[in-house]
Amino acid sequence: MLDHLQPLPILLLLLLFLSLTLSTSESDTPISRFQQYLRINTAHPNPNYTTPINYLTNFANSIPNLHSKIIHLTPTIPLLLLTWPGSNPSLPSILFNSHLDSVPAEPEKWTHPPFAAHKTSDGRIFARGAQDDKCIGMQYLEAIKAIQSSDPNFVPLRNVHILYVPEEEVGGFNGMRKFVERKEFEELNVGFVMDEGQASTNDEFRVFYADRTPWHMVIKAVGMPGHGSKLVDNTAMENLMKSIEVITKFRESKFVIVKAGLAANSEVISVNPVFLKAGTPSPTGFVMNMQPSEAEAGFDIRMPPTADPQLMRKIIEEQWAPAWRNMTYEITEKGFLRDNMGRPLMTLASDTNPWWSVFNEAVTRAGGKLSKPEILASTTDARFMRRLGIPTFGFSPMKNTPILLHDHNEFLKDTVYLEGIKHLKTCFAGISILEKMILHTI
Ligand SMILES: *[C@@H]1O[C@H](CO)[C@@H](O)[C@H](O)[C@H]1NC(C)=O
Ligand SMILES: *[C@@H]1O[C@H](CO)[C@@H](O)[C@H](O)[C@H]1NC(C)=O
Ligand SMILES: [Zn+2]
Repeated sequence: MLDHLQPLPILLLLLLFLSLTLSTSESDTPISRFQQYLRINTAHPNPNYTTPINYLTNFANSIPNLHSKIIHLTPTIPLLLLTWPGSNPSLPSILFNSHLDSVPAEPEKWTHPPFAAHKTSDGRIFARGAQDDKCIGMQYLEAIKAIQSSDPNFVPLRNVHILYVPEEEVGGFNGMRKFVERKEFEELNVGFVMDEGQASTNDEFRVFYADRTPWHMVIKAVGMPGHGSKLVDNTAMENLMKSIEVITKFRESKFVIVKAGLAANSEVISVNPVFLKAGTPSPTGFVMNMQPSEAEAGFDIRMPPTADPQLMRKIIEEQWAPAWRNMTYEITEKGFLRDNMGRPLMTLASDTNPWWSVFNEAVTRAGGKLSKPEILASTTDARFMRRLGIPTFGFSPMKNTPILLHDHNEFLKDTVYLEGIKHLKTCFAGISILEKMILHTI
């Protein structure tokens, strides 16, 4: 029996082995690597950062000349720093940033499971993080790999750092905010940062030069309580409603500009009511025949860096919650509007900023076109670098793609992803070549 059966299994095993090696080499492609990265669940509230860092480190180790370092920001929260050494490491370096974490997903509302990275026959890869922002995290590495395989002698002029930070989606407080205060960050001597951007629905790439800063405002009114039947002046509700009228007019004056196409939503100060709190509770709802002595309302205000914070505070103090109307207010600024030198928190997207020239020229030479530079309506970690005065642009090379970050059914098409790599590759190399011409003196 034995000597009769042996040859066959060996042959089968050999075939199996061959087909396995064939299929693994076949499946080890930029797309399959992207899918593997997307399958690592780093959604809040409990992202595990060890797994993606191990995955990225392994991939980085397969690319020549990339050095990796893990830095702990808290005992349990790490970040990954990769460095591609330049020929002149004394020059300020370039940093490419992405975050490891993602927002959660509600699987029952997705057509494909959010952590399976399923690819449809038309090439759409469905996953939480496909656009925000695991795409750029892998594209940076694929671009460096591609540059080195087409030109093994290529060495960037400056040190290039690729950074994978935790906790961006929860405000960056235990992520980028902590890291920029560390000696390890200072030692990188960063001169220019590329961070995440957003998809564009047309054939042009979008680029972001600033974020808006949220202000959370609560206004409170007090007044004499009174019988529900009496017409009296200066009740808390009347005082609050007068404020709401004024704020509504302000909101409309900004919205009119946006609707007329004279400014983008992100370029104006927006204010939206988010809660109203008043009334005397009763077992069936509220006491109806009594005018309450206190009333309050909450607003989400978004300030572009071009706004004047002193002026805004003056408007709030004098018109929105004036003390003479027995009102008080509280503003919680959820970020900064000025950098450490007191300048508006934005990166100049014009030729007065040499890094803009280099970036813009690199995109153009790579065959791409940038749409008008924008302020991002929300916030990213870029604000922590801009605060230090480091020029920072948000750029994720996704075009002809619906904007699906934080949405159900977030996806990215394989062709768009691959084109993004090609584009970043030309861009990276272009930056390195162009900076020798344009930035020689920096
Ligand atoms: C993260 O995942 C790895 C591997 O799956 C596991 O060994 C580790 O304990 C996890 N870490 C945390 C903090 O849960
Ligand atoms: C403010 O409160 C004071 C003291 O209760 C009251 O006399 C005054 O009429 C109130 N003014 C307004 C505008 O509510
Ligand atoms: Zn993001």
